[in-house]
Amino acid sequence: MSALRVHIDTDPGLDDLLALAFALASPELSVEGITTVAGNASIAAVTENALRFMTLAGAQIPVGAGADGPLALTRIDAASFHGADGRRGVPIADPPSRTPVESARDVLRRSLEARRVERVIALGPLTNIAARVTDEPDLFADTQLVWMGGTLGRGNVTRAAEFNAFADPRAVRVVLESGVRLRVVGLDVTARVAVRAGHLEAAGFAATPRARMVDGALRALFCAERAFSGEPAAYLHDPCAVAAAFAPDLFEFAPLRLHACDEEGSERGRLRVDAAARHVASYAVAAREAELTALFLKRVTEWASFVSVAS
Ligand code: BDR
Ligand code: CA
Repeated sequence: MSALRVHIDTDPGLDDLLALAFALASPELSVEGITTVAGNASIAAVTENALRFMTLAGAQIPVGAGADGPLALTRIDAASFHGADGRRGVPIADPPSRTPVESARDVLRRSLEARRVERVIALGPLTNIAARVTDEPDLFADTQLVWMGGTLGRGNVTRAAEFNAFADPRAVRVVLESGVRLRVVGLDVTARVAVRAGHLEAAGFAATPRARMVDGALRALFCAERAFSGEPAAYLHDPCAVAAAFAPDLFEFAPLRLHACDEEGSERGRLRVDAAARHVASYAVAAREAELTALFLKRVTEWASFVSVAS
């Protein structure tokens, strides 16, 4: 079976870095392009992290830098959780040289048009995707968007909203109203899929640069989560969206018509079911949680044991 061609739009971000490692470690996927979007940290920081990750992975995948803020409303970041550098100082060596970074617009267009990707996996605010959907809707005719974002339950930024939805709710609305084929993996399931200290001891990472990144990112998430909720756990929000792209059987999806509140105030970023919405999204309502964690750990442990020429 040939690998599923995917494009990843991301705001790395600790769990984004782990999701990128998981994607490259998964033979079911062929990653054709990567674009960055401001979210967890500034566009400069998240693009830097994506470039460092590419060097660490020894991968020749085009990286395009995208939006430096939301389509509308005030700008936020998650520096208090992921650090101002987006990775809480987790070591990833500087690339020896930098090829000039292209624009997200060009890289995403090339992935969709020339590389004919079958999935776009979005791991951050939907700003880049909404811009392309608005300007060139036909580009998305043959692809499915798999987005980590939103919640129908309790949020993680406000009571109502999940971070990626809160960061650019106008973009969520544009995407929901565009009719793009959409699979949503929100906090309702991702907040139940975690790596815990016991897993980490059992994993026994090798002493490689990749392992230092993976182990460092998981431990940094433990610290951040302990300060946030009191619980030392690394929730696999973004890796869950990667899994949903190639292993949808690990989830249960419901067809839902959704609305996103794109106004400032206590409802900003809230997703709700809305019978009047024109389009139906496939919304993750349950997951095989332990199997997801096990699959993630197996893949990244293998990937981390390898010393690439570039790292
Ligand atoms: C989402 O918000 C970000 O902080 C994470 O990277 C993830 O994409 C979880 O709410
Ligand atoms: Ca993210």
